[in-house]
Amino acid sequence: MIADIDAARAAAVASIASAATVDDLRRLDAELLGKKGPLAQLKAGLGKLATVDEKKAMGAALNDAMTAVQSALDERRAVLARAERDVQLAAEALDLTEFVKPPTRGRAHLVTQAWERLEDVFVGLGFQIAEGPEVETDWYNFEALNMPPSHPARSMHDTFYVDHGAPGSTVLRTHTSPVQIRVMQAIEPPIYMVMPGRVFRNETTDATHLAVFHQIEGLVIDRGITLADLAGTIDAFTKAFFGTEFGSRLRPSYFPFTEPSAEFDIRTPKGDWLELGGCGMVHPNVLRAGGLDPEEWSGFAFGFGIDRMAKERHGVGDVREMYTNDIRFIEQF
Ligand code: DAH
Repeated sequence: MIADIDAARAAAVASIASAATVDDLRRLDAELLGKKGPLAQLKAGLGKLATVDEKKAMGAALNDAMTAVQSALDERRAVLARAERDVQLAAEALDLTEFVKPPTRGRAHLVTQAWERLEDVFVGLGFQIAEGPEVETDWYNFEALNMPPSHPARSMHDTFYVDHGAPGSTVLRTHTSPVQIRVMQAIEPPIYMVMPGRVFRNETTDATHLAVFHQIEGLVIDRGITLADLAGTIDAFTKAFFGTEFGSRLRPSYFPFTEPSAEFDIRTPKGDWLELGGCGMVHPNVLRAGGLDPEEWSGFAFGFGIDRMAKERHGVGDVREMYTNDIRFIEQF
């Protein structure tokens, strides 16, 4: 009988070794170790053996054979499963080798570059940075800036109104000046702050105007601040941002929120004058709207366009080009 057991075991192990798939193995498992399998049939014959010792010895040999067949199945199943998985992984692999060129590097938008450089320069001059909301109330955008409802200067700000609250009470800010008020309300003087941000005007775009553009606002509030401090700051900024060969000047102008008010121009090394922005001494009504006593505090403010600066700096002919997102345009800078 021992020979029969060995033969059955050898045959089983051989057929397991030649199984080609996990499915084949599943079938073999049932065939070889099932109730009708060769080893099970031999086991059924144990009862016919004459002695207890023989039964024990044959029973042990059968168990050994079963265990050996089982582990042959397990090992073969592991090998086949791994092979099948390798085939599947190979089939699903993505071939990325077509991208032989190194990827092109992106870079910050022209206006973002100008924005960040402006922040750097003002931080270098001792300013802090604040930002305010793009959706504003009429009060912050106009009234607190000394522009009551019928003020003629309002007509220069072609305003987008937001359908929120009482009609006309909510706007897309037309300038960054409302952030001045928010800063005065939020922190105690002395204040040395610049406030960059996006602003909106309901007007037709052309080569020098956008309906959505960017400004940077400056606000200084301290004791004993004078127009000389304003002129000195503008000049220090001009030289730090554009270079020491540039100069600046103030030209009398009018803004409701400053008194006196001025436009500031920069002088290029060639001697041309370029209009940059507005500025002036903060109007007492504006200080009061910000919760400050004009008898105790004085200050100056300024504001200018960031897109405009980027345009001038890079010699862009038409501001609209900066927002077409044409990669050939953007890649030049
Ligand atoms: N807010 C003005 C505008 O958008 C610019 C401006 C002028 C800002 C004078 C100021 C200022 O702070 O003092 O046209």
